[in-house]
Amino acid sequence: MSTTLTDTDEHANTVVGPREAIERYDTAVDLLVRFHPDVVDRTTSLVHDHPDFAMGQALAAHLHLMSTDPRDLDAATEYARALDAAPRGEREDAHAAAIAAWLDGDWHGAARTLDDLLVRWPADVLALAIGHQLDFFTGDARNLRDRIGRSLDAIDRDHPHAGFVRGMQAFGLEESGSYDRALEVATEAIERNRDDVWAIHAATHVHEMRGDTDAGIRFLDERVDDWGSGNLFTVHNWWHRALFALERGDHREVLDIHDAQVRPDPDEPVAIDLADTSALLWRLHLDEVDVGDRADTAADAWASVLDGQAPWYVFNDAHAVMAFVAAGRFDDAADVVRRLTARLAEVGGGTRRSNDMMTSDSGLPACRAVLAFGEARHDDVVDELWPHRRTFHHFGGSHAQRDVLERTLVEAAVRGGRHELARRLVSERLAVRPSGRFALDRRERLVRAGTAV
Ligand SMILES: [Fe+2]
Repeated sequence: MSTTLTDTDEHANTVVGPREAIERYDTAVDLLVRFHPDVVDRTTSLVHDHPDFAMGQALAAHLHLMSTDPRDLDAATEYARALDAAPRGEREDAHAAAIAAWLDGDWHGAARTLDDLLVRWPADVLALAIGHQLDFFTGDARNLRDRIGRSLDAIDRDHPHAGFVRGMQAFGLEESGSYDRALEVATEAIERNRDDVWAIHAATHVHEMRGDTDAGIRFLDERVDDWGSGNLFTVHNWWHRALFALERGDHREVLDIHDAQVRPDPDEPVAIDLADTSALLWRLHLDEVDVGDRADTAADAWASVLDGQAPWYVFNDAHAVMAFVAAGRFDDAADVVRRLTARLAEVGGGTRRSNDMMTSDSGLPACRAVLAFGEARHDDVVDELWPHRRTFHHFGGSHAQRDVLERTLVEAAVRGGRHELARRLVSERLAVRPSGRFALDRRERLVRAGTAV
Protein backbone atom coordinates (compact mmCIF):
# COMPACT_ATOMS: atom_id res chain seq x y z
CA MET A 1 0.00 0.00 0.00
CA SER A 2 1.45 3.38 -0.98
CA THR A 3 1.11 6.30 1.35
CA THR A 4 1.37 9.98 0.58
CA LEU A 5 3.37 11.87 3.16
CA THR A 6 2.48 15.50 3.62
CA ASP A 7 4.86 17.65 5.58
CA THR A 8 6.16 21.21 5.42
CA ASP A 9 9.34 22.78 4.13
CA GLU A 10 11.38 25.21 6.19
CA HIS A 11 9.04 28.06 5.26
CA ALA A 12 5.99 26.10 6.46
CA ASN A 13 4.70 25.41 2.94
CA THR A 14 2.98 22.06 2.54
CA VAL A 15 5.10 19.50 0.70
CA VAL A 16 4.36 15.95 -0.32
CA GLY A 17 7.30 13.66 0.28
CA PRO A 18 9.55 12.02 2.85
CA ARG A 19 11.32 14.11 5.47
CA GLU A 20 14.79 13.40 4.16
CA ALA A 21 13.88 14.58 0.65
CA ILE A 22 12.27 17.75 2.02
CA GLU A 23 15.38 18.59 4.02
CA ARG A 24 17.55 18.11 0.95
CA TYR A 25 15.11 20.28 -1.03
CA ASP A 26 15.38 23.01 1.59
CA THR A 27 19.16 22.88 1.31
CA ALA A 28 18.97 23.13 -2.48
CA VAL A 29 16.65 26.15 -2.34
CA ASP A 30 19.06 27.77 0.11
CA LEU A 31 21.88 27.21 -2.39
CA LEU A 32 19.69 28.60 -5.17
CA VAL A 33 19.09 31.95 -3.47
CA ARG A 34 22.85 32.17 -2.89
CA PHE A 35 23.51 31.35 -6.59
CA HIS A 36 25.76 28.62 -5.24
CA PRO A 37 26.89 26.25 -8.01
CA ASP A 38 26.27 23.19 -5.82
CA VAL A 39 22.53 23.71 -6.32
CA VAL A 40 22.80 21.83 -9.61
CA ASP A 41 24.50 18.71 -8.26
CA ARG A 42 22.42 18.69 -5.09
CA THR A 43 19.24 18.83 -7.15
CA THR A 44 20.44 16.12 -9.53
CA SER A 45 21.23 13.77 -6.67
CA LEU A 46 17.93 14.63 -4.96
CA VAL A 47 15.82 13.63 -7.97
CA HIS A 48 18.01 10.57 -8.47
CA ASP A 49 17.50 9.36 -4.90
CA HIS A 50 13.86 10.47 -4.66
CA PRO A 51 12.30 10.28 -8.14
CA ASP A 52 8.81 10.35 -6.60
CA PHE A 53 9.44 13.59 -4.71
CA ALA A 54 7.51 16.16 -6.73
CA MET A 55 9.15 19.33 -5.41
CA GLY A 56 12.58 17.91 -6.24
CA GLN A 57 11.44 17.35 -9.82
CA ALA A 58 9.89 20.83 -9.89
CA LEU A 59 13.15 22.38 -8.70
CA ALA A 60 15.11 20.48 -11.36
CA ALA A 61 12.71 21.54 -14.12
CA HIS A 62 12.79 25.19 -13.00
CA LEU A 63 16.59 25.21 -12.92
CA HIS A 64 16.81 23.90 -16.47
CA LEU A 65 14.27 26.42 -17.72
CA MET A 66 15.97 29.24 -15.85
CA SER A 67 19.11 28.74 -17.92
CA THR A 68 17.24 30.12 -20.99
CA ASP A 69 19.32 27.64 -22.98
CA PRO A 70 17.34 25.68 -25.58
CA ARG A 71 19.72 22.76 -25.09
CA ASP A 72 18.28 22.31 -21.58
CA LEU A 73 14.69 21.89 -22.73
CA ASP A 74 14.84 18.11 -23.18
CA ALA A 75 16.01 17.65 -19.60
CA ALA A 76 13.40 20.11 -18.32
CA THR A 77 10.73 18.13 -20.16
CA GLU A 78 11.88 14.91 -18.52
CA TYR A 79 11.75 16.47 -15.06
CA ALA A 80 8.28 17.85 -15.82
CA ARG A 81 7.09 14.33 -16.76
CA ALA A 82 8.49 12.92 -13.54
CA LEU A 83 6.78 15.73 -11.64
CA ASP A 84 3.46 14.88 -13.27
CA ALA A 85 3.88 11.23 -12.32
CA ALA A 86 4.83 11.92 -8.70
CA PRO A 87 2.39 12.19 -5.76
CA ARG A 88 1.43 15.85 -5.51
CA GLY A 89 -0.53 18.32 -3.47
CA GLU A 90 -2.01 21.58 -4.68
CA ARG A 91 1.26 23.50 -4.40
CA GLU A 92 3.06 20.90 -6.48
CA ASP A 93 0.20 21.09 -9.00
CA ALA A 94 0.68 24.84 -9.26
CA HIS A 95 4.41 24.43 -9.89
CA ALA A 96 3.62 21.77 -12.51
CA ALA A 97 1.25 24.19 -14.25
CA ALA A 98 3.88 26.96 -14.31
CA ILE A 99 6.50 24.58 -15.67
CA ALA A 100 4.10 23.25 -18.32
CA ALA A 101 3.31 26.80 -19.47
CA TRP A 102 6.99 27.71 -19.65
CA LEU A 103 7.86 24.54 -21.59
CA ASP A 104 5.02 25.40 -23.97
CA GLY A 105 6.76 28.72 -24.62
CA ASP A 106 4.32 30.73 -22.51
CA TRP A 107 6.87 32.56 -20.34
CA HIS A 108 4.27 35.16 -19.36
CA GLY A 109 1.76 32.46 -18.41
CA ALA A 110 4.38 30.75 -16.25
CA ALA A 111 5.06 34.06 -14.50
CA ARG A 112 1.34 34.61 -13.88
CA THR A 113 0.87 31.07 -12.58
CA LEU A 114 3.65 31.64 -10.08
CA ASP A 115 1.98 34.93 -9.13
CA ASP A 116 -1.20 33.00 -8.34
CA LEU A 117 0.74 30.35 -6.45
CA LEU A 118 2.43 33.02 -4.35
CA VAL A 119 -0.91 34.52 -3.33
CA ARG A 120 -1.73 31.25 -1.61
CA TRP A 121 1.81 30.30 -0.56
CA PRO A 122 3.59 33.67 -0.29
CA ALA A 123 6.57 32.12 1.50
CA ASP A 124 7.31 29.66 -1.31
CA VAL A 125 10.87 30.85 -1.82
CA LEU A 126 11.37 28.65 -4.89
CA ALA A 127 8.34 30.22 -6.60
CA LEU A 128 9.57 33.64 -5.53
CA ALA A 129 13.09 33.13 -6.87
CA ILE A 130 11.96 31.58 -10.15
CA GLY A 131 9.14 34.08 -10.60
CA HIS A 132 11.64 36.89 -10.04
CA GLN A 133 13.81 35.49 -12.82
CA LEU A 134 10.79 35.17 -15.10
CA ASP A 135 9.93 38.82 -14.47
CA PHE A 136 13.50 39.61 -15.47
CA PHE A 137 13.33 37.44 -18.60
CA THR A 138 10.10 39.10 -19.70
CA GLY A 139 11.23 42.64 -18.85
CA ASP A 140 8.48 43.15 -16.28
CA ALA A 141 10.10 45.77 -14.04
CA ARG A 142 6.96 46.39 -12.05
CA ASN A 143 6.51 42.77 -11.07
CA LEU A 144 10.24 42.42 -10.38
CA ARG A 145 9.49 44.80 -7.54
CA ASP A 146 5.91 43.92 -6.62
CA ARG A 147 6.04 40.12 -6.72
CA ILE A 148 8.57 40.40 -3.91
CA GLY A 149 6.66 43.15 -2.14
CA ARG A 150 3.57 40.96 -1.94
CA SER A 151 5.49 38.23 -0.13
CA LEU A 152 7.69 40.31 2.16
CA ASP A 153 5.59 40.05 5.31
CA ALA A 154 5.11 36.30 4.84
CA ILE A 155 8.78 35.43 5.25
CA ASP A 156 9.95 34.97 8.81
CA ARG A 157 12.10 38.05 9.54
CA ASP A 158 14.63 35.94 11.41
CA HIS A 159 15.09 33.42 8.63
CA PRO A 160 18.29 33.98 6.57
CA HIS A 161 16.16 33.93 3.41
CA ALA A 162 14.42 37.12 4.54
CA GLY A 163 17.66 38.86 3.59
CA PHE A 164 17.86 37.21 0.18
CA VAL A 165 14.26 38.18 -0.51
CA ARG A 166 15.21 41.77 0.31
CA GLY A 167 18.01 41.42 -2.25
CA MET A 168 15.40 40.50 -4.85
CA GLN A 169 13.26 43.42 -3.80
CA ALA A 170 16.25 45.74 -4.15
CA PHE A 171 16.71 44.74 -7.78
CA GLY A 172 13.01 45.28 -8.48
CA LEU A 173 13.19 48.71 -6.88
CA GLU A 174 16.23 49.59 -8.99
CA GLU A 175 14.62 48.47 -12.24
CA SER A 176 11.58 50.55 -11.24
CA GLY A 177 13.79 53.63 -10.81
CA SER A 178 13.64 53.88 -6.99
CA TYR A 179 17.40 54.15 -6.61
CA ASP A 180 17.66 55.49 -3.04
CA ARG A 181 15.30 52.86 -1.71
CA ALA A 182 16.97 50.12 -3.78
CA LEU A 183 20.39 50.96 -2.34
CA GLU A 184 19.00 51.06 1.17
CA VAL A 185 17.33 47.65 0.83
CA ALA A 186 20.33 46.10 -0.96
CA THR A 187 22.65 47.34 1.79
CA GLU A 188 20.39 45.80 4.41
CA ALA A 189 20.39 42.49 2.50
CA ILE A 190 24.18 42.46 2.12
CA GLU A 191 24.61 43.19 5.82
CA ARG A 192 22.54 40.08 6.52
CA ASN A 193 24.31 37.83 4.02
CA ARG A 194 27.70 38.82 2.66
CA ASP A 195 27.31 36.25 -0.13
CA ASP A 196 24.04 37.73 -1.41
CA VAL A 197 25.36 38.24 -4.93
CA TRP A 198 21.92 39.27 -6.19
CA ALA A 199 21.75 42.11 -3.65
CA ILE A 200 25.32 43.09 -4.54
CA HIS A 201 24.15 43.12 -8.13
CA ALA A 202 21.16 45.32 -7.27
CA ALA A 203 23.39 47.89 -5.59
CA THR A 204 25.77 47.73 -8.56
CA HIS A 205 22.85 48.55 -10.86
CA VAL A 206 22.05 51.63 -8.80
CA HIS A 207 25.61 52.93 -9.30
CA GLU A 208 25.41 52.05 -13.00
CA MET A 209 22.10 53.81 -13.56
CA ARG A 210 23.19 56.88 -11.63
CA GLY A 211 26.44 57.06 -13.58
CA ASP A 212 28.35 56.81 -10.29
CA THR A 213 31.29 55.01 -11.87
CA ASP A 214 33.79 55.59 -9.08
CA ALA A 215 31.28 54.53 -6.43
CA GLY A 216 30.44 51.42 -8.45
CA ILE A 217 34.07 50.41 -8.79
CA ARG A 218 34.74 51.08 -5.13
CA PHE A 219 31.66 49.12 -4.09
CA LEU A 220 32.55 46.05 -6.17
CA ASP A 221 36.29 46.07 -5.54
CA GLU A 222 36.04 46.34 -1.78
CA ARG A 223 33.93 43.19 -1.56
CA VAL A 224 35.25 41.23 -4.54
CA ASP A 225 35.82 38.19 -2.30
CA ASP A 226 32.06 38.03 -1.72
CA TRP A 227 31.00 37.95 -5.39
CA GLY A 228 34.00 37.55 -7.70
CA SER A 229 34.22 33.75 -7.77
CA GLY A 230 32.50 30.59 -6.63
CA ASN A 231 28.92 31.44 -7.60
CA LEU A 232 26.69 31.17 -10.65
CA PHE A 233 26.50 34.93 -11.06
CA THR A 234 30.18 35.82 -11.34
CA VAL A 235 30.18 36.50 -15.09
CA HIS A 236 27.32 38.95 -14.89
CA ASN A 237 28.76 40.88 -11.97
CA TRP A 238 32.17 40.95 -13.64
CA TRP A 239 30.37 42.24 -16.75
CA HIS A 240 29.08 45.09 -14.59
CA ARG A 241 32.59 45.74 -13.30
CA ALA A 242 33.81 45.86 -16.90
CA LEU A 243 31.09 48.39 -17.78
CA PHE A 244 32.48 50.72 -15.12
CA ALA A 245 35.96 50.32 -16.63
CA LEU A 246 34.50 51.08 -20.06
CA GLU A 247 32.86 54.20 -18.68
CA ARG A 248 36.31 55.32 -17.55
CA GLY A 249 37.60 54.67 -21.05
CA ASP A 250 39.97 52.03 -19.71
CA HIS A 251 39.76 49.57 -22.60
CA ARG A 252 42.77 47.62 -21.39
CA GLU A 253 41.02 46.83 -18.13
CA VAL A 254 37.81 45.91 -19.96
CA LEU A 255 39.71 43.42 -22.10
CA ASP A 256 41.56 42.05 -19.08
CA ILE A 257 38.27 41.48 -17.26
CA HIS A 258 36.87 39.86 -20.38
CA ASP A 259 39.80 37.50 -20.66
CA ALA A 260 39.91 36.57 -16.99
CA GLN A 261 36.20 36.43 -16.15
CA VAL A 262 33.82 36.85 -19.07
CA ARG A 263 35.39 34.86 -21.92
CA PRO A 264 33.28 31.75 -22.63
CA ASP A 265 34.52 28.25 -21.98
CA PRO A 266 34.53 26.85 -25.54
CA ASP A 267 33.68 23.38 -24.25
CA GLU A 268 30.83 24.41 -22.00
CA PRO A 269 29.38 27.75 -23.10
CA VAL A 270 26.62 29.09 -20.83
CA ALA A 271 23.97 30.95 -22.82
CA ILE A 272 23.08 33.45 -20.14
CA ASP A 273 26.76 34.36 -19.62
CA LEU A 274 27.42 34.45 -23.33
CA ALA A 275 24.86 37.23 -23.66
CA ASP A 276 27.01 39.36 -21.36
CA THR A 277 30.20 38.45 -23.21
CA SER A 278 28.60 39.47 -26.49
CA ALA A 279 27.15 42.69 -25.13
CA LEU A 280 30.54 43.70 -23.77
CA LEU A 281 32.28 42.97 -27.07
CA TRP A 282 29.55 44.81 -28.97
CA ARG A 283 29.96 47.91 -26.80
CA LEU A 284 33.68 47.81 -27.56
CA HIS A 285 32.86 47.34 -31.24
CA LEU A 286 30.68 50.47 -31.15
CA ASP A 287 33.67 52.31 -29.65
CA GLU A 288 35.91 50.92 -32.43
CA VAL A 289 38.12 49.04 -30.01
CA ASP A 290 40.04 46.14 -31.54
CA VAL A 291 38.95 43.01 -29.66
CA GLY A 292 41.19 40.60 -31.56
CA ASP A 293 39.82 37.08 -31.82
CA ARG A 294 37.52 37.47 -28.82
CA ALA A 295 34.38 38.01 -30.90
CA ASP A 296 35.20 34.90 -32.91
CA THR A 297 35.43 32.87 -29.71
CA ALA A 298 32.04 34.17 -28.59
CA ALA A 299 30.58 33.55 -32.05
CA ASP A 300 31.82 29.93 -31.99
CA ALA A 301 30.22 29.47 -28.59
CA TRP A 302 26.88 30.83 -29.81
CA ALA A 303 27.06 28.60 -32.88
CA SER A 304 27.30 25.57 -30.61
CA VAL A 305 24.48 26.78 -28.33
CA LEU A 306 22.05 27.57 -31.15
CA ASP A 307 22.99 24.74 -33.51
CA GLY A 308 19.82 22.97 -34.66
CA GLN A 309 17.66 24.64 -32.00
CA ALA A 310 14.28 26.21 -32.68
CA PRO A 311 13.93 29.85 -31.55
CA TRP A 312 13.44 29.90 -27.77
CA TYR A 313 14.55 33.20 -26.23
CA VAL A 314 15.22 36.05 -28.62
CA PHE A 315 17.19 38.04 -26.05
CA ASN A 316 19.89 35.40 -26.52
CA ASP A 317 19.51 35.43 -30.31
CA ALA A 318 20.07 39.19 -30.43
CA HIS A 319 23.26 38.80 -28.42
CA ALA A 320 24.39 35.97 -30.68
CA VAL A 321 23.97 38.35 -33.62
CA MET A 322 26.15 40.90 -31.83
CA ALA A 323 28.93 38.31 -31.50
CA PHE A 324 28.55 37.15 -35.09
CA VAL A 325 28.64 40.68 -36.49
CA ALA A 326 31.52 41.78 -34.24
CA ALA A 327 33.42 38.75 -35.59
CA GLY A 328 32.57 39.73 -39.17
CA ARG A 329 30.47 36.58 -39.58
CA PHE A 330 27.55 38.26 -41.32
CA ASP A 331 26.24 35.01 -42.82
CA ASP A 332 25.80 33.52 -39.35
CA ALA A 333 24.03 36.70 -38.22
CA ALA A 334 21.79 36.67 -41.29
CA ASP A 335 20.97 33.04 -40.57
CA VAL A 336 19.62 33.98 -37.13
CA VAL A 337 17.51 36.72 -38.73
CA ARG A 338 16.21 34.22 -41.30
CA ARG A 339 15.26 31.67 -38.63
CA LEU A 340 13.39 34.26 -36.57
CA THR A 341 11.64 35.67 -39.62
CA ALA A 342 10.62 32.17 -40.69
CA ARG A 343 9.25 31.42 -37.22
CA LEU A 344 7.06 34.54 -37.25
CA ALA A 345 5.84 33.69 -40.75
CA GLU A 346 5.06 30.16 -39.60
CA VAL A 347 2.89 31.22 -36.66
CA GLY A 348 1.33 34.03 -38.68
CA GLY A 349 -2.00 34.99 -37.13
CA GLY A 350 -2.10 31.79 -35.05
CA THR A 351 -1.23 31.36 -31.41
CA ARG A 352 1.87 33.38 -30.70
CA ARG A 353 4.00 32.25 -27.80
CA SER A 354 5.87 34.69 -25.55
CA ASN A 355 9.03 34.47 -27.60
CA ASP A 356 7.10 35.25 -30.79
CA MET A 357 5.80 38.47 -29.25
CA MET A 358 9.25 39.32 -27.91
CA THR A 359 10.68 38.60 -31.37
CA SER A 360 8.26 40.83 -33.26
CA ASP A 361 8.19 43.66 -30.67
CA SER A 362 11.91 44.05 -30.20
CA GLY A 363 14.06 40.97 -30.83
CA LEU A 364 13.92 40.76 -34.59
CA PRO A 365 14.30 44.52 -35.13
CA ALA A 366 17.30 44.36 -32.78
CA CYS A 367 18.87 41.48 -34.71
CA ARG A 368 18.26 43.18 -38.06
CA ALA A 369 19.67 46.44 -36.70
CA VAL A 370 22.87 44.84 -35.43
CA LEU A 371 23.38 43.10 -38.77
CA ALA A 372 22.69 46.37 -40.61
CA PHE A 373 25.24 48.11 -38.40
CA GLY A 374 27.84 45.52 -39.37
CA GLU A 375 27.07 46.12 -43.02
CA ALA A 376 27.30 49.90 -42.53
CA ARG A 377 23.63 50.35 -43.42
CA HIS A 378 23.26 52.99 -40.75
CA ASP A 379 19.93 54.35 -41.97
CA ASP A 380 18.50 50.86 -41.66
CA VAL A 381 19.78 50.61 -38.08
CA VAL A 382 17.97 53.80 -37.18
CA ASP A 383 14.81 52.72 -38.97
CA GLU A 384 14.80 49.39 -37.12
CA LEU A 385 15.53 50.71 -33.64
CA TRP A 386 14.01 54.18 -33.43
CA PRO A 387 10.37 53.02 -33.74
CA HIS A 388 10.89 50.15 -31.27
CA ARG A 389 12.55 51.94 -28.39
CA ARG A 390 9.43 51.91 -26.23
CA THR A 391 9.16 48.11 -26.49
CA PHE A 392 12.83 47.11 -26.12
CA HIS A 393 12.01 45.89 -22.62
CA HIS A 394 9.60 43.29 -24.00
CA PHE A 395 12.48 40.96 -24.74
CA GLY A 396 13.74 41.02 -21.19
CA GLY A 397 16.95 41.91 -19.43
CA SER A 398 17.71 45.01 -17.40
CA HIS A 399 17.87 48.68 -18.34
CA ALA A 400 21.66 48.40 -18.25
CA GLN A 401 21.65 45.42 -20.61
CA ARG A 402 19.22 46.98 -23.08
CA ASP A 403 21.32 50.13 -23.21
CA VAL A 404 23.45 48.27 -25.74
CA LEU A 405 20.63 48.81 -28.26
CA GLU A 406 20.32 52.48 -27.35
CA ARG A 407 24.05 52.88 -27.94
CA THR A 408 23.76 51.10 -31.28
CA LEU A 409 21.02 53.53 -32.33
CA VAL A 410 23.02 56.61 -31.30
CA GLU A 411 26.20 55.40 -32.97
CA ALA A 412 24.34 54.56 -36.19
CA ALA A 413 22.69 57.98 -36.19
CA VAL A 414 26.12 59.63 -35.81
CA ARG A 415 27.83 57.49 -38.45
CA GLY A 416 24.90 57.62 -40.84
CA GLY A 417 24.64 61.40 -40.83
CA ARG A 418 21.28 61.42 -39.08
CA HIS A 419 22.64 64.26 -37.03
CA GLU A 420 19.40 65.87 -35.91
CA LEU A 421 18.31 62.61 -34.35
CA ALA A 422 21.80 61.97 -32.98
CA ARG A 423 21.79 65.39 -31.30
CA ARG A 424 18.46 64.73 -29.65
CA LEU A 425 19.49 61.27 -28.47
CA VAL A 426 22.76 62.60 -27.06
CA SER A 427 20.81 65.35 -25.31
CA GLU A 428 18.44 62.74 -23.93
CA ARG A 429 21.29 60.68 -22.51
CA LEU A 430 23.11 63.65 -21.01
CA ALA A 431 19.89 64.86 -19.41
CA VAL A 432 19.89 61.66 -17.36
CA ARG A 433 23.65 61.20 -16.96
CA PRO A 434 25.50 64.47 -17.52
CA SER A 435 28.91 62.77 -17.22
CA GLY A 436 28.13 59.78 -19.47
CA ARG A 437 31.25 59.11 -21.50
CA PHE A 438 29.44 57.48 -24.41
CA ALA A 439 27.18 60.50 -24.96
CA LEU A 440 29.96 63.04 -24.38
CA ASP A 441 32.12 61.29 -26.98
CA ARG A 442 29.31 61.39 -29.53
CA ARG A 443 28.58 65.01 -28.74
CA GLU A 444 32.21 65.83 -29.44
CA ARG A 445 32.08 64.01 -32.75
CA LEU A 446 28.91 65.87 -33.72
CA VAL A 447 30.58 69.17 -32.88
CA ARG A 448 33.60 68.22 -34.98
CA ALA A 449 31.23 67.32 -37.80
CA GLY A 450 29.85 70.85 -37.62
CA THR A 451 26.66 69.95 -35.84
CA ALA A 452 26.33 72.17 -32.81
CA VAL A 453 24.87 70.47 -29.74
FE1 LIG B 1 22.78 43.35 -14.18
